Amino acid sequence: MPAEPTTQELRALVAEFEPEKGHVLPALHKVQEQYGYISRKAIEIVARQLNTTPALIYGAVSFYSDFRTHPPAATEISWCSGPACRLLGGDRIREAMQQTLELPLGGQSGDHRYGLHLGQCNGTCSEAPQVWVNGKVTGNLTVASAIRLAREVKGAE
Ligand code: FES
Repeated sequence: MPAEPTTQELRALVAEFEPEKGHVLPALHKVQEQYGYISRKAIEIVARQLNTTPALIYGAVSFYSDFRTHPPAATEISWCSGPACRLLGGDRIREAMQQTLELPLGGQSGDHRYGLHLGQCNGTCSEAPQVWVNGKVTGNLTVASAIRLAREVKGAE
């Protein structure tokens, strides 16, 4: 697992953002892009930089499902919850993956090797129903191929 960013690194990363300029989301996106998640320390530093409270920043982080408050697993599977994927059986894909990985949506294996979380439509609906494995589309899934994929991810060292 990557080391948690230091206070100094986080301060430098968000130094360009200013209070009262609608910079909350851009600052949070920048932190997540850089470190893969938004730690408690990052929430405090963003709040200080934007002259607001950690509670307000935490509210934004928990409102948007794209933000993570824990380091990502080595292999992250995002399940697309968009309408086209669901119309073509997305919920059965999710159930099959959850069962095979033995994880709830939003969960991660104890050894941080793999995780499953909720994704939003990214416009690649022609390959519905789909998941993204570390950001890469794996589409036209069936229950059988979803189980196969989940087994591969689970079994990989
Ligand atoms: S609905 Fe799943 S990619 Fe658009």
